[in-house]
Amino acid sequence: MQDLEALKESLLAEAAQAADSAALEALRVSALGKKGRVTQLMKTLRGLSPEERREAGQRLNAVKDALTDALEARKASLAEAELEARLARERVDVSLPPRPRPLGRIHPISQTVEELVAIFGEMGFSVAEGPHIEDDFHNFEALNIPPWHPARQDHDTFYLPAGEDGERPVLRTHTSPVQIRHMQEVKPPIRIIVPGRTFRADSDATHSPMFHQVEGLVIDEATHMGHLKGTLIEFCRSFFGVEDLPVRFRPSYFPFTEPSAEVDIGCSREGGQLVIGPGKDWLEILGSGMVHPKVLANCGIDPNKYQGYAFGMGIERIAMLKYGIPDLRTFYESDLRWLRHYGFVPLEAPSLVRGI
Ligand code: DAH
Repeated sequence: MQDLEALKESLLAEAAQAADSAALEALRVSALGKKGRVTQLMKTLRGLSPEERREAGQRLNAVKDALTDALEARKASLAEAELEARLARERVDVSLPPRPRPLGRIHPISQTVEELVAIFGEMGFSVAEGPHIEDDFHNFEALNIPPWHPARQDHDTFYLPAGEDGERPVLRTHTSPVQIRHMQEVKPPIRIIVPGRTFRADSDATHSPMFHQVEGLVIDEATHMGHLKGTLIEFCRSFFGVEDLPVRFRPSYFPFTEPSAEVDIGCSREGGQLVIGPGKDWLEILGSGMVHPKVLANCGIDPNKYQGYAFGMGIERIAMLKYGIPDLRTFYESDLRWLRHYGFVPLEAPSLVRGI
């Protein structure tokens, strides 16, 4: 049993020096495992007399307990040392200035479309879309613009080479063909806006061969000119964020609406600076009218039962007015300096709820 003390001392010394948890485990197995040194000694107890067995058993158990405690203690101190090392290794200098992360900007067109969708969305409009490449029927004919109609000249249409049917597809010159497609597919009541790209062979400070429009269409059995006016006044005031913005409806002409009205908003140009709001001047911003009965009939909708209004406006134009952007061509130059100046920081962009 002298040996037992020596064994205990050497096991405890080994435990105290174990370099890591793997060494601890190896030690545990070599002492207390099935074939471990202490376990083997336990087995020899069987050959002893009862008194000897009790005494030797107690001593062996004491060795086992002492070793178990030593293993635990070493394990805890290794874990603590490991934590200390990690804390030292992973120290963070919280006084360092943060590195700036490059953050993209929202293009003014995207921002404006989101505002339009938010404002009209609150008024119960949903968003519809249609193809950029159109046929003559949807872009012109069904909108009551027959081939001889003078309005065709205003459109500076881009044509594509004729297909097998001999017809030349067109790049849509306005978003109005989506009215037609929607009415062909969906029965009234209809209440949509259609933001999207449009194309005309035209380029200067206020025209670009590709630009954006938003179209609106409301069709049901009882919608009248009063609804058109109410909706557009509300929209103009909400979009430009001017509660008492004067809004004027001027008689006009579009082949697809009757009667038609152009909509102007109040502004002042005093001191050479344009300010949107009550003032001496007017700015035209959109076209509108009651959908022409012929257009309804062209889409298979009974004009004796249904009626409604439509409107259309240029998105660049209202974005330029709202955000003071002087040249339309700059929208598409992809100049990062321009985008940093006129773009919107995500999440900091003007609120998209009503009353922007
Ligand atoms: N399509 C017209 C354009 O491109 C804009 C427009 C005017 C659309 C009146 C409409 C409307 O729906 O009713 O100039």
